[in-house]
Amino acid sequence: MATKLKAPPSDTKEIVDVPWAYRDTVARLSPGGRYIDAETDVDSPWVPFGDNAAIKHLSFDVRTNTYSNILWMKGPGTIGTHLHRGTVTMVTLTGSVRYLEYDWVGTPGGLILETPGEAHTLVTEHPEGCKLFGWMNGPIEFYDAQGTYMDTVDVWWFIEHYENHCKEHGIPINQKLYL
Ligand SMILES: [Fe+2]
Repeated sequence: MATKLKAPPSDTKEIVDVPWAYRDTVARLSPGGRYIDAETDVDSPWVPFGDNAAIKHLSFDVRTNTYSNILWMKGPGTIGTHLHRGTVTMVTLTGSVRYLEYDWVGTPGGLILETPGEAHTLVTEHPEGCKLFGWMNGPIEFYDAQGTYMDTVDVWWFIEHYENHCKEHGIPINQKLYL
């Protein structure tokens, strides 16, 4: 009989065989979950992103134009004004970050949500910069100081950013990063 759970059953520490009718199909077609080590360079290296920043790429999903990474601003700096065509879910890991357009400051553990149609300018004034974990979807358009469109970055841009660095430095491409 179905019940309304107030919390998941947590009294048994063992693997339970779940009666799941589509197990074989899932095994055949799902990219599968996985663990990516973000603390070391074993799974993914830091790739320079301009003079003062680097990106550790964590996942690419070309079917949904979704990409995940850690952006490391190594000191005070700016990521120029950009317009999102998709959604960003971001967590400040270290340091602090703010946007010129908003009145809040992101600090470690805080969740930052960005929605389609938002244009903003990221700055960190923290002496040690910041590390930001991001789960991003869709194209991001960059504009220069005059508001002239410059370029769009998306999952393909991030894949090339990662792969070009690996090729230049003899680092094997990690298939785990591709969903
Ligand atoms: Fe943004």
